Amino acid sequence: MSETEPAWVSVLPDEDYHHSFGLKGGSARAFFTPTTASAELLAQRRHWLRSDPARCAALLPGAGPLLEETIALARSFGAPVSDPTGCETKQERAGSETGAPAHVADDFGRCLALGEAWEPDYVLLKPDANDGRFHLVGGCVCFPSSWRFEEKVGQPLEVIHTPVPHLNEQLASPIHNFLSRLKPGSAWCRANWGLSRSPELNQHPARGLPKLRPPLREDEVWLRIEDQALVALPQSRGVLFGIRMTVVPLPEVKRHPAAQRGLVRALRTMPDAMLEYKGLLAAKDELLRLLTDG
Ligand code: HEM
Repeated sequence: MSETEPAWVSVLPDEDYHHSFGLKGGSARAFFTPTTASAELLAQRRHWLRSDPARCAALLPGAGPLLEETIALARSFGAPVSDPTGCETKQERAGSETGAPAHVADDFGRCLALGEAWEPDYVLLKPDANDGRFHLVGGCVCFPSSWRFEEKVGQPLEVIHTPVPHLNEQLASPIHNFLSRLKPGSAWCRANWGLSRSPELNQHPARGLPKLRPPLREDEVWLRIEDQALVALPQSRGVLFGIRMTVVPLPEVKRHPAAQRGLVRALRTMPDAMLEYKGLLAAKDELLRLLTDG
């Protein structure tokens, strides 16, 4: 691949589709450090976190130490995380109305503050004291790819992955073993991709965004690349999972022959159950036509 290709091209290798573990060592600082798109991204994050916090943020009891360690990491990478202590947020008001202990409300305020200050979405995972399985205990996800963060909160990773056909039978054990042995210091990075009929970053199912159904024009399709980073939180014994979204219009994908080839091959070889999960089954032939038309 040419050195001038954008990084997202490598997410579409010329291979038959398969679930790929695909973790590579990387730099947590490089993943989380603010980019030139900061102002626009943070404005969108603020919008969703303030208008719909129940759908994009959560912090379970016991997740406070993971959050504090993550905030310290974020600050060390240059994120301007404010400390909401003393300024009453909507959630703190909700906390006092529902009788939640003050520190729980404070922690949730800090969880939101980090979500507003950091470009990537973040998810906190904690091993269960009894069986060691990793559970989602908190985070802020403003830009989901058609999944519901609020339904994943509190669940173990294997349950979170249940909708993905054959993922658990192929990868649940390797993923668990990998997370259990994660060492502090670096980040482990991988990526998923998807296609969408909307360029919106926030593709929560509740938004009812348009689906990929024929007929389609090429300017109605976007590639979504989801870059992910896994980072150990050694003091709290948790794991930080960061997610960054890149959205590429289909005509731009077609300008990169390696990406076009990889996408065509993935669509041709992907099992129907996976095409259905990714919302591509009904539009598969139409997408292949758009990708292979001159
Ligand atoms: C560490 C290795 C991991 C691998 C190999 C992996 C793999 C995958 C794959 C292949 C998908 C399907 C995405 C698609 O093709 O559209 C997926 C979905 C997903 N993964 Fe992972 N994943 C990993 C870790 C995690 C972690 C740590 C979380 C944190 C909670 C997570 C949360 C999710 C969620 C929420 C979905 C969407 C599920 C749905 O549609 O309901 N994954 N993952």
